[in-house]
Amino acid sequence: MTAKSGVLRLMFPLYATRHCLTCHGEPRGEADQMGYPKEGLKLGQNAGAISVVIPIQK
Ligand code: HEC
Repeated sequence: MTAKSGVLRLMFPLYATRHCLTCHGEPRGEADQMGYPKEGLKLGQNAGAISVVIPIQK
């Protein structure tokens, strides 16, 4: 949190579980069940992050 921005920002890392690999696993580029290309992630690999920004009132 910074005084200037007036927001509380939380970030959570996302790690690939077995469940994620159905759509984001290997082989990279092959279409997943949704029709999007897979990213080639491996189990436990960082897949991104969730960022939550909450405005704080003074
Ligand atoms: C049923 C299929 C499916 C599953 C299971 C799945 N996703 Fe996704 N995910 C998608 C689709 C479709 C998109 C949007 C298109 C794309 O970016 O490939 C997406 C997008 C994402 C994005 C944004 C990618 C970007 O660059 O914009 C992240 C991060 C992500 N998924 C992480 C995960 C994680 C972590 C899991 C497991 C907890 C997971 N996904 C499970 C289908 C899935």
